[in-house]
Amino acid sequence: MNDVRVRAAVSPLRRSFATAAVLPSVDELVATERPEEPMHCLRPAAVTAAARAFVAAFPGDVLYAVKCNPEPGMLRAVRAGGVSHFDCASIGEVALVRQMFPDTAIHFMHPVKARGAIREAWVRHDVHDFTLDSTEELGKIVQETAATGASGELGLIVRLALPKGSAVLDLSGKFGAPAALASDLLRAARPHATRLGVSFHVGSQCLDPLAWRNALTLVGDVAQDAGVTIEIVDVGGGFPAAYTDVDPPHLGAIFAEIEAGFDRLAMPRARLWAEPGRALVASGGSVIVQVQHRRDDALYINDGVYGALADAGAPRFRYPVRLVRPSGAASSNELVAFKFFGPTCDSADVMHGPFDLPADTAEGDWIEIGQLGAYGGCMRTAFNGFDRARLVEVRDRPLLPQVPLRIAA
Ligand SMILES: Cc1ncc(COP(=O)(O)O)c(C=O)c1O
Repeated sequence: MNDVRVRAAVSPLRRSFATAAVLPSVDELVATERPEEPMHCLRPAAVTAAARAFVAAFPGDVLYAVKCNPEPGMLRAVRAGGVSHFDCASIGEVALVRQMFPDTAIHFMHPVKARGAIREAWVRHDVHDFTLDSTEELGKIVQETAATGASGELGLIVRLALPKGSAVLDLSGKFGAPAALASDLLRAARPHATRLGVSFHVGSQCLDPLAWRNALTLVGDVAQDAGVTIEIVDVGGGFPAAYTDVDPPHLGAIFAEIEAGFDRLAMPRARLWAEPGRALVASGGSVIVQVQHRRDDALYINDGVYGALADAGAPRFRYPVRLVRPSGAASSNELVAFKFFGPTCDSADVMHGPFDLPADTAEGDWIEIGQLGAYGGCMRTAFNGFDRARLVEVRDRPLLPQVPLRIAA
């Protein structure tokens, strides 16, 4: 045995700083730290405000989709906004949420789970609701919860497949039961369920409020065909955030479609659920990167698609950016449309943007990349050994605001 310590997974975001771990602004942070590794900036106040607004306006229960950003500071901010339900995809997420919030409701919403995860969630973490989209998964959940010998009220949620829609990130191909199977599953699950539900997901970053209305129409068809009482209608996630090239519909327009579609179902005893991720946390996180090299209109930066910028790669998200020069050093007024290269040696580590920055952006400059509270830090890998990043809280405003609930008068 040698005594070399082998690191097998991505390093956790570290909070060690020369200065405080909470700073008034990103500019101050750059001036004092001059960071040479990516710096994740958390804005808990923005997240709490977004969560509070969503909870107040949504006509049902709001389950935060933990996968979107499981950073404890983010979870605390969501919880402070009044969210008391958590949508977990794995037993790791379940254990984390239960440890942090002993009194909240946790829902295990991955349609394909390990048997041991079902048992552990049921027995150790007081999880009662499980999603399924197949006969086999229904069998697993019923067998494994019964095998523990622990009694409890079982919630079974049948995930319905939707046709491919217009969402930026399509989720239609992987999960969900086609309508006929979903009806069969509802009938088969009914005798085992204290509460029975139907869920769907319109796809992430969905800009079309009608997507929810159409999905609810399909829920109505399936429920009628199944002929059983349904207690939960879960409209999933997909609620949009703002990015540089998108002007999403106001959340109120989406909620209005959901409310109208739900009313048309005429299920007076059913409760509405939603599983937002992105809409609650996107604007509450940004990452400061440093330019390590410039070649023409390409900037080589110290984070990339194997780090926090996965969605700037193939999905081509255009995150808002701004140059940060310590002590207010001037920059050119002329803008250039840059592309970014990430730090790994993989040629797929490219982000085409374009990202508009001052024409004199150069090696050594810092760039703040916004709207990375959603699907940013949680996507990091250790590829090529570029796995170090730090986390700090800042008090200044996000680069883009949260999508409002309604158009300002
Ligand atoms: C089952 C489920 N619920 C909720 C979400 C959150 O979606 P979004 O971040 O688009 O709101 C996801 C994301 O993939 C999901 O798979």
